[in-house]
Amino acid sequence: MARAIRQFICQSCGCTHNKWSGKCEGCGEWNTLSEEVANDVVPKGLGKAKGRSIDFSPLDGVSEKAPRCVTKIDEFDRVTGGGLVPGSATLIGGDPGIGKSTLLLQVVCTLSKTIKCAYVSGEESIDQVRMRAARLGLSDAPVKLAAATNVRDIIATMDQDNLDLIVIDSIQTMYLDNLDSAPGSVSQVRASAQELIRMAKRKGIMVLLVGHVTKDGQIAGPRVLEHMVDTVLYFEGDRGHHFRILRSVKNRFGPTDEIGVFEMGEDGLAEVTNPSELFLSERQDDVSGSAVLAGMEGTRPVLVEIQALVAQSPLASPRRAVIGWDASRLSMILAVLEARCGVQIGVNDIYLNVVGGLRISEPAADLAVAAALLSALSGVAVPEKTVFFGEIGLSGEVRHVSQSDHRMKEAAKLGFERAILPTIRGKKNAGKKDQNKASIGITELGHLNDLLPLFSE
Ligand code: TYD
Ligand code: MG
Repeated sequence: MARAIRQFICQSCGCTHNKWSGKCEGCGEWNTLSEEVANDVVPKGLGKAKGRSIDFSPLDGVSEKAPRCVTKIDEFDRVTGGGLVPGSATLIGGDPGIGKSTLLLQVVCTLSKTIKCAYVSGEESIDQVRMRAARLGLSDAPVKLAAATNVRDIIATMDQDNLDLIVIDSIQTMYLDNLDSAPGSVSQVRASAQELIRMAKRKGIMVLLVGHVTKDGQIAGPRVLEHMVDTVLYFEGDRGHHFRILRSVKNRFGPTDEIGVFEMGEDGLAEVTNPSELFLSERQDDVSGSAVLAGMEGTRPVLVEIQALVAQSPLASPRRAVIGWDASRLSMILAVLEARCGVQIGVNDIYLNVVGGLRISEPAADLAVAAALLSALSGVAVPEKTVFFGEIGLSGEVRHVSQSDHRMKEAAKLGFERAILPTIRGKKNAGKKDQNKASIGITELGHLNDLLPLFSE
């Protein structure tokens, strides 16, 4: 008989340990181990039973092209790579209260007009979901609604009901009755997801799993699920802001790094088709410490404002606060400014903010950050109607970044008249440069030093 054994499982990465310890060896997180009971089911060899041989297929065979389910919510379709693929499993992670249930209800209601959709809520009662649907004006959509948490029941339903799509909100509330651990623990979450995905693949049902991410690691984060599903989307944003960003971090059927931008309003999430306009809507032109980055998010150019504040520090080790950007990248820019350009900035408190709750990860933001910092330090506003992009190297050189044309086109579209960017190389680009010149002026920089004259009074 299977013997119950005690294990300590990290609630953050899913690593198993035999003994409790304060720090998980697997991911280095503190205080994430919790005790769970697992059945000792290590098989002793394969036994006598023989397996069947697998059928191999050629690589160039004609496969039925995955027909995609287009939701007609353009921002959602863009992130999934042109719609959901039948039989695929998608995980939508995000902080509690960010709007995952709202988004999925909207998606399901739109899709239910063409395919058979079910929405299984483990968190809200049927009445609560109905109320939400009424508020969103979607009550007439033919969605099958259920409040259930037992995976065995849900799987039986999937097997019988000929569904095309099922939403599980959320995977942390689901449980398998043959496991002893509590719903939300890593073993429950992992096993439940595995069962649901297995059934979905077998029947060709699209499954959308909602997963909460918590910082303290008490509830199993959906990170342990990331390798099981085909697509991982993160719904992020600042709860103080209205903007929400849907980002794909893994996609077996499309590109990653695409974002979809939504705005949370009275009647649910509205698509934001031109995010740049929104991110720049409250920008003032003539204040110091603000620069506009012509950035790229996936295939889409996005213009965002970067604000910096430089204040004299009363502290021995000055304060650095960064929102929406990488703190170590900021330290690097500050070091380059000090060491290569002779700008005395390190002794000050420095605050940096990417406006609108967007998180920027591309190195092309370096130049815009440097411009915002220099502007804040000198008190001289950045030249009007100017955008920046370019990566800064450790010797202070301004490096080439990809898709300059896209960035400049978007800037010109929004009324910007000048782009400050790395030196354009090669003949191919030189031709394009002339084309762009008509719409937007270009200032090329080879070294960060060339930026300093803009901010000298
Ligand atoms: P919800 O979808 O329940 O979040 P999650 O499922 O990620 O936990 O969203 C909850 C928040 O959204 C809540 O704070 C209220 C807000 N909201 C609106 O502002 N307008 C709306 O129309 C809806 C339905 C929700
Ligand atoms: Mg919810």
